[in-house]
Amino acid sequence: MRHLLSAADLSLAQINSILDVAEEMHDVQSRPVKKLPTLRGRTIVNMFFEDSTRTRGSFELAEKWLSADSLNMAAKGSSVSKGESMRDTMLTLDAMGVDAFVIRHSGSGAVYQASTWVKAQVINAGDGQHEHPTQALLDAFAMRRHFREVGDDDWTTKTVAIVGDLLHSRVVRSNVLLLRTLGAKVVLVAPPTLLPPGVSHWGTQVSTDLDEVVDHADIVMMLRVQRERMSGGFFGSEREYSDAYGLTPQRLARMLPSAAVCHPGPMNRGLEISSAAADAANSLILAQVSAGVAVRMSVLYHLLGTDEGAHV
Ligand code: NCD
Repeated sequence: MRHLLSAADLSLAQINSILDVAEEMHDVQSRPVKKLPTLRGRTIVNMFFEDSTRTRGSFELAEKWLSADSLNMAAKGSSVSKGESMRDTMLTLDAMGVDAFVIRHSGSGAVYQASTWVKAQVINAGDGQHEHPTQALLDAFAMRRHFREVGDDDWTTKTVAIVGDLLHSRVVRSNVLLLRTLGAKVVLVAPPTLLPPGVSHWGTQVSTDLDEVVDHADIVMMLRVQRERMSGGFFGSEREYSDAYGLTPQRLARMLPSAAVCHPGPMNRGLEISSAAADAANSLILAQVSAGVAVRMSVLYHLLGTDEGAHV
């Protein structure tokens, strides 16, 4: 595997290999000295054309802890802000001889396009409303750990509900692809105005009624209302939205005792998720963040590791 652009690029065996190596990487995080020599001598450029806390921070830490050399580029501060095209900026860095680019961009498909321009390997860290494959992998890691704690990790017996602003979400697209490869049942829940066109062909169940779903899902994954991608008119008021589609304390109380809450962050507390749910004992939200570093270490190892057998 040369690039990681879509969750659809990954076979079941590759997903399991990434999750299993991430378990080993996770131990490094709790060590006082967080350093492995795995990517010594490899150079990675992080190009974030869109804001990010978790994804950017965890890629940077993952690279450092694997001993890679890395360079951070943002649109502001690079020649992109002088009018240079993304292609010319990337060709310039590629000509310096870097090994990989980790790219976040607001254009759906921009990361795929970038992968056709450069010799280096490319990892999609979120492109517009399209995909965010490492987020889906870290979600699967956190969910699998939870399933192991409460019983079994047989994905084919699990129902994952993904709720909220599906229309603008790259997280839901990558999660649906990955969870279907793993064999889980996915139920998508949103108001009709926030359902993506063509969602009936995604191979999931679709519902507009959260109350019908919340009491039997093994995972309830809430998605952020992405105000920055909205021009208004998608729902009445914030109050109406949280009444109908928020994970309120009442809905939290109706979840299965073994079920867990997920949210990729950043959260709008009080809108799609109540603080009671975000901070609940069965919330995996910080476990997801913590999984982010280990999973990205594993992805970098699988893509860039030079040892025999290091490639998936
Ligand atoms: C998501 C993203 O950027 O796609 N966040 C993340 O990577 N943790 C979701 C979001 O912005 O709502």
